[in-house]
Amino acid sequence: MGEKMRLDRLVCSQMPGVSRADVKKLCLKCRIKVNGKLARRSDAHVDTDDEIFVGDTRVVYKKYIYIMLNKPQGVVCSTKEGQSRTVLDLVPEEMRRKGLFPAGRLDKDTEGFVLITDDGELSHRMLSPRSHVPKTYLVMLRDPWKESYKQAMAEGLVIDGGEKCLPAEFTGSAENDRQCTLVLHEGKFHQVKRMFKILGNEVVFLKRTAIGNVSLDPNLPVGSCLEIMHKDVENLLTH
Ligand code: URA
Repeated sequence: MGEKMRLDRLVCSQMPGVSRADVKKLCLKCRIKVNGKLARRSDAHVDTDDEIFVGDTRVVYKKYIYIMLNKPQGVVCSTKEGQSRTVLDLVPEEMRRKGLFPAGRLDKDTEGFVLITDDGELSHRMLSPRSHVPKTYLVMLRDPWKESYKQAMAEGLVIDGGEKCLPAEFTGSAENDRQCTLVLHEGKFHQVKRMFKILGNEVVFLKRTAIGNVSLDPNLPVGSCLEIMHKDVENLLTH
């Protein structure tokens, strides 16, 4: 058994662009079926587990949606429309819903994994300073990385303004002396860039490749979205 909900509310919550008035009209036109029977009234109460069809489209109720976006450079992690395109502009029509927001931010020039959701409670757990959900970044540096970075990062760097960072895991690439990965357990403003700056280097390209135990799908093109399941999202919080 799911939850009880008005038919019009359920349909509107799952089908972007469909209004309550539309659901009423669809009922009158005999276009909606609930468990095989025509729905006559849009204000009828249904169960969220009921089998609901609008025309030929099955409406499967999902309380929340979780979207993995491979963010391109030049797009901002904001819900407000300003001069720049926002991550919400990249969500395809079939994944759109009211109340979507990016759970966490990447800089405008950073690429990679952004979680977009309408689940405020999960986002709060993920972003809480006490949660320490690890975030993995692929970093390209201006100058070759040094062996000493590993220990400096592991001890917790003090960055500009005297902010002390939590211990982070640095791994230099064996193939490319300007490439490395860094795992952070917090999210200070411009943190990766500021950490390398204090070490005398500079980040020239940055991409987030994982949040918690969930990796950015390597087949997901930059600028594209992929719906992920709630159970996978719980993995974001396991570390
Ligand atoms: N650290 C940065 O400097 N920028 C980001 O976008 C994310 C982490």
